[in-house]
Amino acid sequence: MARILITSAIPYINGIKHLGNLVGSQLPADLFARYNRMRGHEVMFICATDEHGTPAELAAAKAGKPVAEYCAEMHETQAAIAEGFRLSFDHFGRSSSDRNHRLTQHFARRLGEAGLISEVTEKQIFSKADNRFLPDRYIEGTCPNCGYDKARGDQCENCTKQLDPTDLINPRSAVSGSTDLEVRETKHLYLRQRALKEKLGEWIDGKTDWPVLTTSIAKKWLNDGEGLQDRGITRDLAWGVPAQFEGAPWAGMEGKVFYVWFDAPIEYIAGTAEWADANGLDDAAWERWWRTDKGAADVTYVQFMGKDNVPFHTLSFPATIIGSGEPWKLVDYIKSFNYLNYDGGQFSTSQGRGVFMDQALSILPADYWRWWLLSHAPENSDSEFTWENFQASVNKDLADVLGNFVSRVTKFCRSKFGEVVPEGGQTGERAAALIAELETRVRAYEGHMEAMEVRKAAGELRAIWVAGNEYLQSAAPWAVFKEDPERAAAMTRLGLNLVRLYAVLSEPFIPDASARMLAAMKTDDRSWPGDIAGALGALAPGHAFETPEVLFRKIADEEREDWQKRFAGVRT
Ligand code: MF3
Ligand code: ZN
Repeated sequence: MARILITSAIPYINGIKHLGNLVGSQLPADLFARYNRMRGHEVMFICATDEHGTPAELAAAKAGKPVAEYCAEMHETQAAIAEGFRLSFDHFGRSSSDRNHRLTQHFARRLGEAGLISEVTEKQIFSKADNRFLPDRYIEGTCPNCGYDKARGDQCENCTKQLDPTDLINPRSAVSGSTDLEVRETKHLYLRQRALKEKLGEWIDGKTDWPVLTTSIAKKWLNDGEGLQDRGITRDLAWGVPAQFEGAPWAGMEGKVFYVWFDAPIEYIAGTAEWADANGLDDAAWERWWRTDKGAADVTYVQFMGKDNVPFHTLSFPATIIGSGEPWKLVDYIKSFNYLNYDGGQFSTSQGRGVFMDQALSILPADYWRWWLLSHAPENSDSEFTWENFQASVNKDLADVLGNFVSRVTKFCRSKFGEVVPEGGQTGERAAALIAELETRVRAYEGHMEAMEVRKAAGELRAIWVAGNEYLQSAAPWAVFKEDPERAAAMTRLGLNLVRLYAVLSEPFIPDASARMLAAMKTDDRSWPGDIAGALGALAPGHAFETPEVLFRKIADEEREDWQKRFAGVRT
């Protein structure tokens, strides 16, 4: 049994995420967590809300609420939606937690003591119209690297370069649009990432098995002329982790907080501590996941995120960890994703374009979305959601193939043998061929799941469903029944056992359908198949079952057109 620590990039608190966000981190992380649990491994799966920074402050102001109250409410909202999508976090934490405050200050103090933090009095942009310093992402302008004219002051969305607001050409306030910006002096703490460049480079060079998408982005920002810059890790804001605290190796930072991107990844650790607290466990319980001197040396740590998050996870966060000089667990594997586009354009939170998680669940249950999103995950390139494609996949894969298989076997059995696994008879060559095919396919499926090749895994699972369907179609127990009821019984027994096998194999993708299939088969046997022939004997003759309701319904053309219209515009 292995121990696997899994984190998903933590979603910003302000607003409900769209399906592009979901498929880029939380959903594939959930797939991997569920798969590893099914295989009997010990899994710790952590996510949280990313609550600090100006977006939260501004969203709270817009909602007319104190920011702490706004965050508490939005956290509950996001937690409920995550639950709706069956995201199986061991803990869904909050970056504003007391645990994260303490850990963030701890890391900052260690970095300071190691000489890796410098105090810099700098000129920063103050917006007179807004009466505030404008944090990085609230200054917009033209990217000096690629020329994109809506680059934000922290990062260019177009070329992923991490920026400082003063790098922008023609800056303006994203809060008010005002260009009445003034440069004022303010003191900030800088993390001396350059001093860690060599160590980071060696670490990344050792990661030869990482996806190209991950390493190419990491190496680009590590080595490109200006790649690794020292980064300001504090901001002139009220909401966040205070930068001045007891035992801090600096003074005069009152009224400032750590930058949201400094404390957010630390929440992966803090979230695990929150998990321990929530379960009445001691520090040792979470430290065995994170401290290599306290049991985490044998942990495999995998992170999931969209490509825009890669620089922070390959450079900034590891700089914090390595720079602390303490034996914290560094990530072993980073699975990153491209973008999912929406019907000919981009999903956009700021513009309200696309389908958002709450809307999706209001029209169809989680499994429909999980299946489509995962089987079309933007792994090797960006991918696109279209309603036609969604309708076609659901109707074909889920309704015609899997759903139909389950319904045919159970209904046939009920009509001819009753709702029990029938006795007697021998299956023929077709069954032997099916078992041989499944043997190969299930091992391939495992390989893809372990390698986090999400699309390939989905493709293999689909092929596994298809194989059962084709077996049933060609074995045709309904035709055989008249001549040789014993043989028809054996075929049906095999079919019912396939239902259980499919429930087990499909659980990571479509957990609700899987649970319904197991409930219909009246079994709790979720054991992963070793040899397929053995697994197909799990439900013995005489075992009672129940014919389930329709597993997946088809999406009608009118519905699809209706949704297409409903979600064509901009969410208000
Ligand atoms: N909130 C960020 C986003 O949605 C992700 C933060 S990931 C973490 O892009 F590492 F900082 F936690
Ligand atoms: Zn750019």
